[in-house]
Amino acid sequence: MIALGCDHGGYELKQEIKKHLDKEGIPYKDFGCDSTQPVDYPVYAKKVAHAILNKECDKGILICGTGIGISITANKIKGIRAAVCTDCFTAEATRLHNDANILALGGRVVGPGLALKIVDTFLNTPFSGEERHKRRIDQIETE
Ligand code: RB5
Repeated sequence: MIALGCDHGGYELKQEIKKHLDKEGIPYKDFGCDSTQPVDYPVYAKKVAHAILNKECDKGILICGTGIGISITANKIKGIRAAVCTDCFTAEATRLHNDANILALGGRVVGPGLALKIVDTFLNTPFSGEERHKRRIDQIETE
């Protein structure tokens, strides 16, 4: 199950992603927002992060105008590794190396065509499981 969340800057791209996931038969839960009316991105970042931590969802996709505010918020929460991606190379690398559990996108940065490729890459790439990457991920959580 994929958790989706956005603010007003990401709403239109989220709608495109939902259509794509529907077409691919990938289940998702939409945690809002529900329009292009201005809202505060931390609210949606936290909803998606908690859905992952409580195992209601396996991965998340968060979208704001840039992908930055919403990913900064999500990354404050222990156990969340949110990666802002603007290309498929980083989407693949962050799954292989960082085991990122949230993809963050900028609705004002990437067009829908590229965004959907990034989503597919992120969702279809497993964590490498390599020892050096596990070690580094463990180190993220300690001060
Ligand atoms: C909202 O205008 C905008 O600040 C937000 O979508 C995001 O880009 C913040 O990082």
